[in-house]
Amino acid sequence: MTLILGIETSCDETAAAIVDENYLVRSSIIESSLDLHRDFGGVVPELAGRAHLSTIGPVVRRALEGAGLDPLQPAIDGIAVTSGPGLIGSLLVGLSAAKAYALGWSLPFVGVHHLEGHLFAPLLETPDMEWPVLTLLVSGGHSALVLHTSPGVHRVIGETIDDAAGEAYDKVARWLGLGYPGGPVIDQLASRGNPSALTLPKSMWNETLDFSFSGLKTAVVRATEKNPDLALEDVAASFQAAVVEQLLRKTRQALEEHEVRGVALAGGVAANSALRRGLTELGAQYQLATYLPSLVMCTDNAAMIAAAGLYRLRHDGPSAHELSASPNWQLAALS
Ligand code: KG4
Ligand code: ZN
Repeated sequence: MTLILGIETSCDETAAAIVDENYLVRSSIIESSLDLHRDFGGVVPELAGRAHLSTIGPVVRRALEGAGLDPLQPAIDGIAVTSGPGLIGSLLVGLSAAKAYALGWSLPFVGVHHLEGHLFAPLLETPDMEWPVLTLLVSGGHSALVLHTSPGVHRVIGETIDDAAGEAYDKVARWLGLGYPGGPVIDQLASRGNPSALTLPKSMWNETLDFSFSGLKTAVVRATEKNPDLALEDVAASFQAAVVEQLLRKTRQALEEHEVRGVALAGGVAANSALRRGLTELGAQYQLATYLPSLVMCTDNAAMIAAAGLYRLRHDGPSAHELSASPNWQLAALS
């Protein structure tokens, strides 16, 4: 039985996991330095890097012990580590640790694209997915529509031309004084607000499969400057309705243009309640298998990195020991 240790440190989560060749998660440990960043309205790279440095060792040890392995000489077959995109200092902590473990235990290691990791998340909960699958990948740093013919074989068919969906949530939340991360709090407020309270622009009302969220964010700022008495719930509900409407409209358009058997959500914004409801309805309408990862699988974790690493190790072989972190690595470069 092949066992892979996954390591993820691209942003504020320090995570390690053990996944087997059948995509069964044997253990998954996630530590977040979120509390250090809350007051700053976003992740502070310097603080995140330092936190990873003190957390990575214990997190890997807990993941190995959680899977019933000897933490000093584990019987595993390889190590997968996020090598980009992400914060350079944070990526380097995970990458250096992975290289050290690989050398110490004489194991192959492979650098994994963080977003390819997110794409593997649905598979960890539903190993018998029906392919091809259209994945709406929405996170704090990226928003894309990805066409997937089988695990690891994918093509980006649409992406954001400015802010990512999660980034727009975070920026609007910061403007409204709601702290970081913005997605969960706006999602919660939105459930009690009126989605028609604000008239927001219909961004990207065009034929492309690309997204744009920067104009929406600016429109929310303008509307609340003009009318400071607007209820937060109404602002949140109107903003969320506009974001979700755009995401679903583009997904529908992609389904019209491409023949698939399943539709999946991935990335941190996949935790959004309105988006989950909307995608479920869309999947039913097109009679597709719909894959919505659990909330813990939507946000950053190392099980998804181990899963992608399993594929990459088999498909491309191990990375060279000289591999460096790629903070701006494009997903399309993998296709
Ligand atoms: O994938 P992720 O954990 O980190 C990145 O790789 O970026 O995504 C984090 C993003 C943040 O922008 C956060 O605000 C957003 O996911 N998010 C949400 C929700 N929960 C997290 N956005 C909308 N609704 C949510 N419920
Ligand atoms: Zn992520």
